[in-house]
Amino acid sequence: MNRILLLGKNGQLGWELQRTLAPFGEMTAIDREEVDLSQPGQLREVVAGACPGVIVNASAYTDVDGAESRPQLAISINRDAPAILAEESRRFNIPLIHYSTDFVFDGSLGRAYTEADAPNPLNLYGKSKLEGEQAIQSVGGLHLIFRTSWVYSLRGNGFVSKVLRWAREKEALRVVDDQVGSPTWARMLAEMTSLVLMLAQARGPDWLAEHRGIYHLAGSGAASRLEWAQAILALDANPDEQRCKGILPAKTADFPAPAQRPAYSVLNCEKFERTFGLTIPHWRENLRLAMDTSLFGG
Ligand SMILES: NC(=O)c1ccc[n+]([C@@H]2O[C@H](COP(=O)([O-])OP(=O)(O)OC[C@H]3O[C@@H](n4cnc5c(N)ncnc54)[C@H](OP(=O)(O)O)[C@@H]3O)[C@@H](O)[C@H]2O)c1
Repeated sequence: MNRILLLGKNGQLGWELQRTLAPFGEMTAIDREEVDLSQPGQLREVVAGACPGVIVNASAYTDVDGAESRPQLAISINRDAPAILAEESRRFNIPLIHYSTDFVFDGSLGRAYTEADAPNPLNLYGKSKLEGEQAIQSVGGLHLIFRTSWVYSLRGNGFVSKVLRWAREKEALRVVDDQVGSPTWARMLAEMTSLVLMLAQARGPDWLAEHRGIYHLAGSGAASRLEWAQAILALDANPDEQRCKGILPAKTADFPAPAQRPAYSVLNCEKFERTFGLTIPHWRENLRLAMDTSLFGG
């Protein structure tokens, strides 16, 4: 397993994986410049060229609203490309690590979802990701699929950066309190992936074959979007720059969007913790670490 093929190196998760996976050996890290996953046929050549001992797929079409008007693009990237990666991983008998989403669920259960709960995606993004999971499973190679949710990093234009920016631009902020999920730090996800890979390497392919499948892996605890935004502003290293004087609760219906979102898509991650002997930190603790700028002098 000492050669890694990482797809999606510039994404929130891929950027972190480039760092946490480095100790495993030589890495071929690629993104859109190297291969356009809307043409997934090119992938077989890429895999053959990299000659990997493990494939980690952090790439995805993640524009939830965009998927409603570009379903074929979402399907190519989120179903067809992972299907090819699964076939290549089975052909070379190497592990494939892939990520999926809480949006495979409709959010109507009213409690945290386990891997045994039936998916029922409300939108095309969720449908394309579910079909990606199913394609990988039906190929039947050595796969681990980590379903995660509300992924953030301090880089780029994710929810954390947006809330910090809005608080500087607006006097009044309104954030929905009727969507509840599990905020997940991309770095935590990358670290957990590396720890699981280390375990798989130590225990060998039979162990991995026995433990293949879907695992929920997201920040522990639950938050509404409003609670998450409040926690972000409370941890702001430069609160003096904020113009807004607090956040007002809003409803999903106040912000019409092309894609419907699940109301309660918290993931129960006990299977992951039990199987791999790891403890997933609470989302608040991870957010505190993610936003801790003290090393840089605030
Ligand atoms: N973000 C979330 O809240 C969330 C929630 C649940 C699950 N997940 C899952 O977690 C995983 C990682 O998500 P993330 O937040 O790190 O995603 P991300 O930041 O959007 O990164 C996705 C990566 O895939 C690349 N990509 C997209 N279309 C491509 C194409 N046609 N060809 C080649 N590369 C392409 C992107 O490149 P470009 O930047 O050039 O497009 C980007 O580098 C994904 O499987 C996602 O479905 C994410």
